[in-house]
Amino acid sequence: MRSNHCRSGVLATLFLAFILLSGQLCTGAAAAVLEAKIGLALSMTGGAAAYGATQKQGAQLAVDEINAATGAAGIKVVPVFEDDASQPQQGITVFNKFINGDKVALIIGPTLSNTAQVTDRIAQQAGMPVLAVSNTAKGITEIGDYIFRDSLTEMIVIPYTMKIAREKLGVHKVAVFYGNDDAFTKGGYDAFKKALADAHIEIVTEQTFAKGDRDFSPQLTQIKGKNPDAIVVSALVEEASGIVIQARQLGIPASIPIIGGNGFNSPALLANAGEAAEGVMMGAAWNASSILPLNKKFVEAFTAKYGHPPDQFAAQAYAGVYLACEAVKRAGSATDHKAIRKAMSEIKDLDTVLGKFSFTPERDADHTPVVQVVKGGKFAVFGE
Ligand code: ALA
Repeated sequence: MRSNHCRSGVLATLFLAFILLSGQLCTGAAAAVLEAKIGLALSMTGGAAAYGATQKQGAQLAVDEINAATGAAGIKVVPVFEDDASQPQQGITVFNKFINGDKVALIIGPTLSNTAQVTDRIAQQAGMPVLAVSNTAKGITEIGDYIFRDSLTEMIVIPYTMKIAREKLGVHKVAVFYGNDDAFTKGGYDAFKKALADAHIEIVTEQTFAKGDRDFSPQLTQIKGKNPDAIVVSALVEEASGIVIQARQLGIPASIPIIGGNGFNSPALLANAGEAAEGVMMGAAWNASSILPLNKKFVEAFTAKYGHPPDQFAAQAYAGVYLACEAVKRAGSATDHKAIRKAMSEIKDLDTVLGKFSFTPERDADHTPVVQVVKGGKFAVFGE
């Protein structure tokens, strides 16, 4: 009886020890997963909503993939999506929330350079790393050493675009049309102006518009009168669509190509302008036809999930989430912003949908651009 009692006591002790040990093991395993809260400030409303929509889809796909692959020693991403409303003021509110409320590991966004030039100063001041995934204007990473971007700048893409336009289309004189009240459209104008001078392409007229304008016919009539070989446009997609439609309505023929910058890389241009968009050219950082194995997998997974192919903005946001997670993983912390910043700066040749990715010493993207042309309602690679 006593020995039975004793045996059951030993068994109970062993059982208790097992429970405690397995509990510890579980806790140990859970602790090895690094949970990273990432703040994503994207334009879900306002003039840049067309970009924000696909950026969010690209980012969410990356989050889902990373979390599905989370093993005992992996990383779990907790995305915090906020709408920056395409407005600097709302961007400031969102950044302050991410920094002081959510206490995120790092911030991805905002969508527009015009917002970033204000919000990124707040992040820099707070020592919060930022990864821009669509800002292409000059002067963003110059804000400070906590600011990175995976989006190729206009200063890299536009000279390449104009070189192709001159060599392949024989463009020698152009009209320039740009928005003079936005950091990106104004920066694009500066980049075009320098690229045109370097390529010895004459500017026959310069015309401007403002954000929210709907009627571009006075400026386009001036442009038509100057008979340029091409019209170079620095605009975000809302205004770009109106310009493309009205240029063709005014009888500027398709033989005078419209050449845009990064703002043109949205399927919204195709949807808004339809037939008028045929033949429009623009420099880009990415095209869906890229044969990188990782990219093919991305295009397939994105199309299966959302029922439409990704655009350049989706690809850069998707790559951005992977870059952000890599930095957090290498830092071994989701709260040590200094270590995350350092780890981000040390990323070298990481396989991404944008190609093997490294940041320049100035924390910018550095890879080969592509010139796209609208063909059959799609963005094709020019010349292919
Ligand atoms: N590339 C655009 C910008 O920088 C969206 O604002």
